[in-house]
Amino acid sequence: MERTSITIEGGNQLTGDIEVSGAKNAVLPILASTIMLDGETTLLNIPPIGDINSMVRMLNSLNIRTEYRIDESIHILNEKKIRHIAPYELVTAMRASFFVAGPLLAKTGFAKVPLPGGCSIGLRPVDIHIQGFKKLGVKINFEHGFVEFSAFDLKGNVVDLPFPSVGATENIMMAACLAKGETVINNAAREPEIVDLANFLIKAGAIIEGHGTSSIHVQGVQSLQGVKDYYVIPDRIEIGTLLIAGGITGGSVCIKNVDKSYLAPITDALSKAGLVISYENNNVRCSANGGIKPVDITTEPYPGFPTDMQAQMMTLLTVASGKSIIKETIFENRFMHVHELVRMGANIKIDGQIAIVSESSLSGAEVKITDLRAGAALVLAGLIAEGHTIVYGLHHLNRGYYNLMEKLTLLGAKIVT
Ligand code: UD1
Repeated sequence: MERTSITIEGGNQLTGDIEVSGAKNAVLPILASTIMLDGETTLLNIPPIGDINSMVRMLNSLNIRTEYRIDESIHILNEKKIRHIAPYELVTAMRASFFVAGPLLAKTGFAKVPLPGGCSIGLRPVDIHIQGFKKLGVKINFEHGFVEFSAFDLKGNVVDLPFPSVGATENIMMAACLAKGETVINNAAREPEIVDLANFLIKAGAIIEGHGTSSIHVQGVQSLQGVKDYYVIPDRIEIGTLLIAGGITGGSVCIKNVDKSYLAPITDALSKAGLVISYENNNVRCSANGGIKPVDITTEPYPGFPTDMQAQMMTLLTVASGKSIIKETIFENRFMHVHELVRMGANIKIDGQIAIVSESSLSGAEVKITDLRAGAALVLAGLIAEGHTIVYGLHHLNRGYYNLMEKLTLLGAKIVT
């Protein structure tokens, strides 16, 4: 049976080398994009975590066959007629299921996808996706909680995004791959996971330029083919979380086989907090060097500091020698970990979008996870708290981290499951 809580004994230094899993936020749109690919695809470096399992179930429900293999690869066979209705229970379980809208439209000219509701970290509307699809000539109809998209032919166009939404950039970029003519996405999001998706689609035969910049150009093609052995990039949020685990416990953790080109927004913040970051070949190391310094952080679209690292960074800053200001600009309700950190003795005050974090001394407590990254923040807090911390609600953590407790234990954490 899946465990629901863990007990962490605080005060143990974490030291050693470790590898992280493939990036969840790259795997999800890549899996969705296989709706558009004819034939067989094999993806490598795919962790069997909750959100990825949900997307795999989504593909199965659309008539795509998948086989997950023990070497963390997934084999996908797209040779049957695609169904174009996304099941309600899968879209409501995971918002990223909405990524199937673009590929379904491109492949079949029709998609019926439940309107995702909000989630614990915010309202998360999909208006930017919908405006973008409209620019490609898609007719939209809202009925009975579903969005119906239809387009006899998708037509390339200029799409100016009002905000560089990650999901909208991906959805529109995917749909544009099979549209007629050229699509230009301006004010596009630049996250490394979008670059990985584009690189995958290019291997499938798509013509995409400018991914990683704020202007993506897609030239539509007739069809896309399955891709063999595509290796998904390592998860930068898992890298950041484990680097903090080393630094916060006064230890030294080395993450092997990373691509340092996209880590700077995270590692620069850790350096400013007084941790020592060093690169050796394809490895990145984070070591403690005396105390933690206060830093002011603002979450922003890439290449700004990622909102998905905000909670973990906050735990680090609870032990800094002074006051840090954290401003969350991406999601309106992403401070839910604060109440639980406060219960552990953290000195944090919230004022709207801002959290003021002052020097604290953490003590073990029973705490409850409310969302994925909040869970990581509480586990990090448990590693340095005096005494034992019991963390409940592990299913949130298992949506996005693969074997996190095992990895921390390998590095020296004392965790009882
Ligand atoms: C993705 C990531 C998530 C990350 C987030 C921001 C995946 C699977 N998830 O989520 O881990 O935290 O990027 O880096 O890749 N918004 C609108 N209208 C829209 C779309 C978004 O108002 O149509 C708002 C959202 O409510 C949110 C903000 O824009 O406040 C950012 O959302 P977006 O960049 O789209 O994030 P996701 O793709 O949902």
